[in-house]
Amino acid sequence: MKKGRILTGDRPTGALHLGHYVGTLASRVRLQDEYEVFLLVADYHALTRTQDKEHILATREFTRGLVLDYLSVGIDPAKTTVYVQSDVPSVCELHLLFSMLTTVPRLDRVPSLKEVMDAEHIENPAYGLLGYPVLQAADILHVKGNLVPVGKDQESHIEVTRELARRFNFLYGAVFPEPDALIEGGTLPGTDGKAKMSKSLGNAIFLSDDAKTVEQKVRAMYTDPTRIRADIPAEPDGNPVFAYHDVFNPDKAEVEDLKTRYRQGKVGDVEVKKKLARALNNFLDPIRERRTYYAARPQLIDEILVAGANKVRPISQATLDEARAAMGLGRLRI
Ligand code: TRP
Repeated sequence: MKKGRILTGDRPTGALHLGHYVGTLASRVRLQDEYEVFLLVADYHALTRTQDKEHILATREFTRGLVLDYLSVGIDPAKTTVYVQSDVPSVCELHLLFSMLTTVPRLDRVPSLKEVMDAEHIENPAYGLLGYPVLQAADILHVKGNLVPVGKDQESHIEVTRELARRFNFLYGAVFPEPDALIEGGTLPGTDGKAKMSKSLGNAIFLSDDAKTVEQKVRAMYTDPTRIRADIPAEPDGNPVFAYHDVFNPDKAEVEDLKTRYRQGKVGDVEVKKKLARALNNFLDPIRERRTYYAARPQLIDEILVAGANKVRPISQATLDEARAAMGLGRLRI
């Protein structure tokens, strides 16, 4: 017996990195056995940022890349339903119904809106950008998702989802669950020591990086700048090289030994980084193997996405029928 339904996903905007793994991918993989999991590629949501046709066409390639990332970390298409958002357009109808149940000032207060407007220098948000969390609520609720594993930045969107479910149920009767966000994992710092690993900051190690690239990136990683020689004692806490060791090096004795010697000024950064690169490459090797397998079978990716959409469509339609009936919206049967 499964514990409930998970729905989560990402916009197809680029390669996933170790920060995504720590933030949500690991829990998505782990929960595949306990929950019925739906994983969506949010291509409609990608339109909120760029409307150029060239970008829209590029989104298709990003979609394949994202699905390859999912499969390579161990998302199993036999357990998780992977689909592309726009392949199940009935979600748009639910989005429309939900758009009547929230207000413009409420959506204006969602913190990610201001962040995107600042980052992309947008003065006047498009109607669609303001409605971003409403569409996300429709994504989650058209399959009646109970749990949403996401990064911390998405928390406010799940709150909007809960409010919409509550409002709908209050007005028309209990149709929707009130889903919980699952925020695990924490945030991985960037290779430059900044608080967050992010593609746009150029401080990311990608799941698709080869062993040499990982070695180079680790060699160039930020460490304690006051430690100009290996015999200067220093504190490993707060040093991103050690933060990565803590997460990705399964040899805890080795990590403890490195930390002790670091505190005593008895180990060079070169050794600490060499051991980190080895641990990261050991972690990435099985991911690379699965990527090679699926990358050689593009047909299989198409089949996974077609099967995913075919599975979600009737679920979505049934939810819509139920919602419409609850609201008293008639549908002409022809
Ligand atoms: N907004 C999410 C992000 O940028 C992507 C997303 C779209 C999503 N719809 C979703 C995440 C539904 C969880 C549930 O990461």
